[in-house]
Amino acid sequence: MGSSPKHLIVPIVVVLSVLMDHTCEGQQHEPPSISDPGTVLIKIQNDVANNSATLTVHCRRVDRGYEVDLGAHDVAPYSYYKFSFETMKIPVTAYNCSFQWPPKNYHDFNIFFQARDGDEGENKWVVHDWGPCLRNTETGNEDCRNWS
Ligand SMILES: *[C@@H]1O[C@H](CO)[C@@H](O)[C@H](O)[C@H]1NC(C)=O
Ligand SMILES: *[C@@H]1O[C@H](CO)[C@@H](O)[C@H](O)[C@H]1NC(C)=O
Repeated sequence: MGSSPKHLIVPIVVVLSVLMDHTCEGQQHEPPSISDPGTVLIKIQNDVANNSATLTVHCRRVDRGYEVDLGAHDVAPYSYYKFSFETMKIPVTAYNCSFQWPPKNYHDFNIFFQARDGDEGENKWVVHDWGPCLRNTETGNEDCRNWS
């Protein structure tokens, strides 16, 4: 007698407060760090099947209005060539390399795209006959691409 009918107000308030809690947690996360770029180190190792073949690597920075030419470098079997650079606030830094080895192999590859590869860190590429592979230096696993 005289007891109030149950209302939906209590469950709605509970749901709203849970949603608001989640919203507050979300706001504590930092945005991705596109505003503080870093340094990238690229290593390119010669693992072509002919183990007496020198790999000639020629890389260029291609994201500016002009090319920055890093020149041609001869890489002995199982040795590597490396270069490093600073990335940019807007993630557009890009490097292209050509790869030549005897007798007549020639390939091009976009070795670095900031939007694909991140703002910083070490990327070790191992060049095989079929294409370049990004090697995880901790596990030894390779993520391979075909020459396009
Ligand atoms: C392997 O490399 C050597 C040294 O550059 C070259 O003379 C030879 O033609 C290559 N052999 C093959 C099978 O590609
Ligand atoms: C970079 O290399 C790719 C091959 O992966 C080629 O298709 C492209 O034209 C090159 N880009 C530039 C700007 O040199």
